[in-house]
Parts: sequence; C-alpha cells; structure tokens
Amino acid sequence: MTTSPTLNFDTDWSYAPAPETAPVELADAYGLFINGEFTDAKAGKTFGTVNPATEKRLATVAEAGDADVDAAVTAAQTAYDKVWSKMPAADRGKYLFRIARLIQERAREFAVLESMDGGKPIRESRDVDIPLVAAHFFYYAGWADKLDYAFPGPRKPSPVGVCGQVIPWNFPLLMAAWKLAPALACGNTVVLKPAETTPLTALKLAELLRDAELPPGVVNILPGAGATGAAIVNHPGVKKVAFTGSTDVGKAIARSLAKTDKRFTLELGGKAANLVFADAAIDQAVEGIVNGIFFNQGHVCCAGSRLFVEESIHDELIAKLQDRMKTLIVGDPLDKNTDIGAINSRPQLEKIEHYLKLGQEEGAEMWQPETPVPARGFFCKPTLFLNCAQSSSVVQDEIFGPVLAVQTFRTFGEAMTKANNTPYGLSGGVWTDKGAKVFKATSKVRAGVVWANTFNKFDPSSPFGGYKESGVGREGGLHGLKEYCSLN
Ligand code: NAI
Ligand code: MG
Repeated sequence: MTTSPTLNFDTDWSYAPAPETAPVELADAYGLFINGEFTDAKAGKTFGTVNPATEKRLATVAEAGDADVDAAVTAAQTAYDKVWSKMPAADRGKYLFRIARLIQERAREFAVLESMDGGKPIRESRDVDIPLVAAHFFYYAGWADKLDYAFPGPRKPSPVGVCGQVIPWNFPLLMAAWKLAPALACGNTVVLKPAETTPLTALKLAELLRDAELPPGVVNILPGAGATGAAIVNHPGVKKVAFTGSTDVGKAIARSLAKTDKRFTLELGGKAANLVFADAAIDQAVEGIVNGIFFNQGHVCCAGSRLFVEESIHDELIAKLQDRMKTLIVGDPLDKNTDIGAINSRPQLEKIEHYLKLGQEEGAEMWQPETPVPARGFFCKPTLFLNCAQSSSVVQDEIFGPVLAVQTFRTFGEAMTKANNTPYGLSGGVWTDKGAKVFKATSKVRAGVVWANTFNKFDPSSPFGGYKESGVGREGGLHGLKEYCSLN
C-alpha cells in the first residue's frame, strides 16, 4: 500500500516509494534455445547476469560457443528449408499475430524482468519498450502476406535464408522485436544473440515462442558475449546479418563481411544534436531535452546528447533545465516514481565516469543536481556540461549515459554546421515555432531521423537508421522489411 506524502517544508520531504509488485517467474539457470529446446552449451560454459541496481546475480545463463552456433544455424536452415519458407505467408502472419498477442498478455512480467536485468525505469519498460515490442510484431504480422504489394516488380519477393542477429543491452526485448519480426514475416529463420548483461527477456521470449507453437528452429536464441556474436556473424550458413551496438564492433563486422556476399544492416552509435531556436516554446523544449538525454539513462543510440541553444535564450533555458533536473529521481528501477534508473553495467558506469572527469579536465563546466543516489548499484546523476568547446571529448564521443553537452549558436547556418560536425548521423531534434524553419533544418541536418518539437518518438512504420558512422541500412517500416527480402 502506498501513502500520499504530506507537504511539510520544515522536514526533508521526499516522495513515497512505490515499488513494483508484479511477480516474475525466474529460473536459477537458463540454457541456449536451439531447435525449440533449451540445452546446455556443448562446452559447458555459463555466465551470470546481475541486476545493476542491486549488483545481485539474477540467473546463470549458458554461453554459446562455436559448436552451439553451428547447431543453431543447422536447425535454422532445416526449419527454413522444410517449414518456414514453404509455409503460406498468411500462416506466417498468424504466428506473428499470436506472438504479439502473447506479449501483450504477459507485458507486465516482461516489463519487470527488463527493468531487473537491465536497470531501466519500470515506467519506461512498461509504457514504452514492451508496448512497442508488441506493436512491431503486429505491424510486421500484417505485412507477411502482402509482400507482393509492398515490393511490386517482375520477381516476387523471396526470403533470404538464415539471418544472424546480434543485439545490444539498452533496449533488449525491443531490439529483439525489431530484428525478429521483419525477418520472420518475410519467411527467414533466425539465430539471435542477446547482449551479455541483458539476456533474460530474450530467453523469456523463447519460452513464449514455444507457447505460441512456433515451429522448432525458426528462432534460435544464443546468449553469449562478443565471441558468440562473431561466430554467428561469420558462420557460412548465415545469409544476412543484423547488428546493433558500438561503432567499433560494427566496423569490424563490416570489414569481415566485405569478403562475403552476405547482406548486412548495422545500427551503430550516435551523438545527436538537439537544436533549440529562440522562438521555441521553452518549457516544452525543456521537457524534450530531458526526455532526449535522460530517457533510459542516456543509453540510447539516438539520444539528444548535444544541446545547441540559440545564444539569446541560453541563460533562461539552462536555468529552467537545471530546475527541472533537480526534480528527477535517480534510484530503484522498479519504483514507478523513478526517472533515471541504474546504469546497465559497471564497465558502462566506469566509461561514463571517465568522461565526467575528462570533460572537466578539458575545460567544460560540469553541473549536477544535489539528487540523492543509492549507495549500492550502478548509478549516475543527470549531468550537464556547460561552455563546451567543439573539440571537447564530451561533445565528440558517444558517452551513452545521462550526460548532456551544451553549446550555443547565433545563426541558422552556424547551428547547421555545428550539428553536422560529427562523424555520426543517426538522429536530431529541432525546437522552433516556425514550420518553415523545421523543414529547412530537417533537410539540412544529416541524420536518419530528425524530430521536430518532440524527441525519442518511435513507431514501427517509420524507418530508423543512420548516415556516416551511425550505420548502414534501415530498420522499421517498409525499408526495414526490404532488408529481409530478395527482389531478384
Ligand atoms: P558492443 O558493440 O560490444 O555490444 C553490442 C553487442 O555486440 C553485444 O551483444 C555484444 O556481445 C556483441 N558483440 C561484441 N563484440 C562482437 C563482435 N566482435 N562480433 C559480433 N558481436 C559482438 O557494445 P558494448 O561494449 O556493450 O558498449 C560499448 C559502447 O557501445 C557503449 O558505451 C555505447 O557507446 C555503444 N553502444 C551503442 C549501442 C547502440 O544502440 N547503438 C548499443 C550498445 C552499445
Ligand atoms: Mg543483467
């Protein structure tokens, strides 16, 4: 039961904690999901996944080696040849609809587990991640028997074969959905690897796929780390690779696949410019800036991590932003009041802390609110860097944490030049009262997605992907579907 706090300005007033109570069924140990069965790794290797908010181990998970990857690709190839690519497309669609509905039915459990294993606030996993997971399956279920209309031409679209998919830890189940749903809709089969710090919702999804009676081998889920990912990517039986993660690993994958005829799509890093013009609705912009960088602790490839403010409103906007940041609650991911949950892992926290130090050493001015932070677990306060030089590491590098680098501009041209002065090109944001300025800016900012007077809005029908070092190819929408079809 929760009690409403009474306002008393003499005492240290704090919010009433409201921890999540929905139960999650969690086994002590999880196997690899190959050909519809959970099995141990052939080499017997395992690893633990922890709750980053408590540092406690949640479960032990099998780690797939080369022999397991080979078994999974063989199972996927057999399922492809004998069942999935042969099945009437409308029937494939029915499986995807069934998966989508089962996810909706179990949404609460998936949301809680996502927050436990990865550290994101329950409000986000419950209201954003899991509903979007279901939406992706619904969306692509609808396309399964309409591919001829989606891609009209002399040849009917055909599937590609076994797809190898490697996903990151920031949106674990959502990235699984982004990858699985279009692949399956087109008649492909899959070997998917979740990230090593967040394997549990993918393994729960494996249980759900079994309950949905998806034919064995259509989806195989292999937990593991980089070596497992590389083994999947480089397996000769894999015809198409989809990867989301760091730019360094993406480049290494592109190099190794350049020698092959495999298809690949890469969703890599970002350093998005969020541009606020003097004519913008400032309070709305402040909310958008907060959402842009503090959503999911800033572990977001399209995070608005560079804020550009028109000089004449800089002081007013920063004061309002700081006031808003003072209200953000950092803490228990399972508490629905929490705004900023746990940093996903100790190495990621260390990376963020390295940048907090470096940013100051390089001369930018760091500001954090006096928000309390739990003593245990991996946490980081929302952070601003003011007066940043263009050369500062906090402006140049993807930090992947709740850290915002602030710069100013005087003219539209200067704003565009600064926004594009980055090796990345994934996303951007524009805040202005003028429609014409929105169109002008969105055509000049070289990024796959540019939001206007909003940020971090996602929809399965809208393609997502980057320019420059942010990646190759698109996911979502018809563009994402096309990556999984052969049209010649
Ligand atoms: P990472 O790129 O190493 O991990 C992403 C996925 O790739 C994981 O499943 C991992 O096991 C797998 N992987 C690692 N090495 C591989 C290889 N050689 N071949 C195939 N798969 C491989 O990213 P990491 O180390 O977890 O995070 C480091 C930084 O990367 C973050 O601080 C962030 O800046 C960036 N990142 C960006 C993401 C995005 O959504 N664009 C997601 C995760 C990380
Ligand atoms: Mg974990």
